[in-house]
Amino acid sequence: MPEIFINGQPVQAEAGQTVMQAALANGFYIPYFCWHPELSIAGNCRICTVQVEGRSWVEISCNMPVTEGLHVLTDSDLVREHRKATMQFITLNHPVDCGICDKAGECTLQDYHFAYNGSASVSREPKVHATKFHDLSERILLDNERCILCSRCVRFTREISKSNALGIKNRGDVSLVRAADDSPLDADPYSDNVIDICPVGALLSKPFLHKARVWYLKPTPSICPGCERGCSVNIWHRKAEWHLRALDPAQNTSIARVTPLENPAVNGPWICNKGRDLAQVFERPRADRAMQKGKPVELASALLAARNLIGEAKRVVILVSSWGSNEELAACRDALNGRFATFIKRDHAPLPGERIEDDLLIRPDKNPNTAGARALFGEASLREPAFEPDTDLVLVWGEGCNFATLPAGAKIIFLNSYLQPENGHADVFIPVSVQTERAGTYTNFAGVVSAFEPCFPKQPTVANAQDVFAAFTQDAVARS
Ligand code: SF4
Ligand code: SF4
Ligand code: FES
Repeated sequence: MPEIFINGQPVQAEAGQTVMQAALANGFYIPYFCWHPELSIAGNCRICTVQVEGRSWVEISCNMPVTEGLHVLTDSDLVREHRKATMQFITLNHPVDCGICDKAGECTLQDYHFAYNGSASVSREPKVHATKFHDLSERILLDNERCILCSRCVRFTREISKSNALGIKNRGDVSLVRAADDSPLDADPYSDNVIDICPVGALLSKPFLHKARVWYLKPTPSICPGCERGCSVNIWHRKAEWHLRALDPAQNTSIARVTPLENPAVNGPWICNKGRDLAQVFERPRADRAMQKGKPVELASALLAARNLIGEAKRVVILVSSWGSNEELAACRDALNGRFATFIKRDHAPLPGERIEDDLLIRPDKNPNTAGARALFGEASLREPAFEPDTDLVLVWGEGCNFATLPAGAKIIFLNSYLQPENGHADVFIPVSVQTERAGTYTNFAGVVSAFEPCFPKQPTVANAQDVFAAFTQDAVARS
């Protein structure tokens, strides 16, 4: 382990590290735009310069290997002077757009301008203009005036998603990031990660465009249920103190955007685009009224009716949701398993055109907790449901059930969160909360357990599945 000295302090670096990595790992901050821990080193932004003691020049730290006894200064007069000049150069043609830029509040350029420059532009020339809103893909807008040509987005598509969808064309102040003609960015299911890693507001999410200032929003840690990878995500929604009373109060309980939550054990710093589109999953029209044979009833009446049906039935089959949390699944098992045949249902199948599987993140099972259900109910429960001729009650929990395959004549209890025609056909329908309204854990395909937290309150007419199953415990059923 080479020992180096940063600002006179001894630091044990690891062999093969760069000065940037050794400094960051030991609490010395060096600014960077183009460097990214998961990407190759480009060394083009020049903001990361440090001074080797005894030398009268500065050099970049992101590609400077540590060597035994190296003495570097990260904050000398020369380094500060050079950083300021670099910031003035980088912002030379950058528009003063912060007031309308979605990146404002989390923009590295904004932060570094405040920290390392803070002066007005010294240029007397007009700024060079470039394409303001270029459609890079169906999902992403590019503002070339804001782009500082760090090439992170280009390297991401070359090295991580491997779509090779982006490149830089032309030279000098007419250089432009552009999509490759023969490899559209739309075909890259990981494309939106470039929005996160762009250090400035050049790459903009169309669904999030001008939707909210980020300081109005709060991230809640959650899990993408889009496949059995179970990527860790942040679900962003309005902070309570910024709730809207007029205009559109529905925004108070809406998902504003979804971003990756770095988790080395599951997804690293990335997610796929499906994980960004969780609003399309959770904000589908919701079922919020309990029903008996299609007639709205109080939730308590529906629970009682369901309990009675279970108490009276001779042969019951349970179709368990692979979108249920470990806690809900355990409540279901504790209440009902052992007495009834249980099958784990695949609530969601791949969507048309969706990538099924790849080497980066995407997994073939499009349900978040099949592994958790398998651990609780056993491998045998994963087979296709089989109904004995005398089956007289089926409890269906969650989506993905073809009701035409259920035995004719059997009564049906249905727990579901969304409006669908089958809700009204069930003998008892109980509306249940979705993931953004409760806490819980999922177990992913590799056995990693991750937790999610609630973002929004549930409607009082909607139950948590865990409470529903608690109401079905053997004692409760025996008493009913
Ligand atoms: S668009 Fe953003 S990530 Fe891509 S080169 Fe420009 S500044 Fe860098
Ligand atoms: S890889 Fe799977 S879990 Fe991860 S974001 Fe995509 S769909 Fe969601
Ligand atoms: S971070 Fe080192 S040159 Fe950009």
